Amino acid sequence: MDALELLKQMSDQSVDLVLTDPPYFNQGTQKKYSRKGHKDVNTNFGDWDKFESDEDYIKWMKIVICELCRVLKDNGSLWIFTNDRYISYLRHFIRDIEGMNYASTIIWHKYNSPPRFIMKAGFISSMEMIMFAYKGKKPIFNKPKIFKEMFNVWITPQTPSGERLGHPTQKPISLISKIIETSSNSGDLVFDCFNGSGTTTLVCKQLNRKYIGVELSEEYCKMAEKRLSQNVLLPLDVKQDGGNRLPPTDKSVGIRPTIL
Ligand SMILES: C[S@@+](CC[C@H](N)C(=O)[O-])C[C@H]1O[C@@H](n2cnc3c(N)ncnc32)[C@H](O)[C@@H]1O
Repeated sequence: MDALELLKQMSDQSVDLVLTDPPYFNQGTQKKYSRKGHKDVNTNFGDWDKFESDEDYIKWMKIVICELCRVLKDNGSLWIFTNDRYISYLRHFIRDIEGMNYASTIIWHKYNSPPRFIMKAGFISSMEMIMFAYKGKKPIFNKPKIFKEMFNVWITPQTPSGERLGHPTQKPISLISKIIETSSNSGDLVFDCFNGSGTTTLVCKQLNRKYIGVELSEEYCKMAEKRLSQNVLLPLDVKQDGGNRLPPTDKSVGIRPTIL
């Protein structure tokens, strides 16, 4: 189902947390990347990532953002993945919506990014961004006890191969868990209108949150449903080894430890 179609049917102030990962319009600047001695990498993730122009993309994103802010409850949080091409347009737009406060931009550094998206000047693209805003004055902010401070640069590996299901932009469970734990409590309703392979809804199930996930592609809906139908969501044999700023523990964590 189309995100806007469902959003239009939703009531004002009906969800506790919006967490969503929309199309980035990755083809906006370059159709493919080439490097001597390597296969070309095309940035065509599918028709869902195609827009006529930058203006067209930004216009559509602004409509989606308006709807997301409308359905968000007072004191609810809004987390939206994006990239460095469009963030300044979108964050200023969110800031100017009545009742919304722009809190932070999180830089997600994927330290093991393969040398795929090489810029002309030779830098490997290993970064995505997440915009974090909230409505009202008192958002939920659950700081994990193990951290004294929360930094706005989050360093994790890319989505591990053991989690990958074939969605081209699937997000890691550890990253999505951190957002949901920080900005919601058990029993809260979380909304993702670009659910893809269903990472958000899977983590909600695991963390005892209610959820609504919307996805245009039938193939990805099936992927997400399959993930949700599993009783054991992740192998529970992964142990924290203390080598990544998390305290060592014998307890199985179920989510692969990462530097967050
Ligand atoms: C960046 S991906 C989300 C990936 C997801 N976070 C995951 O971990 O698998 C964006 C998704 O939005 C879907 N999509 C694109 N346009 C849409 C629309 N208008 N309504 C609903 N879903 C849409 C795409 O099919 C794609 O799966």
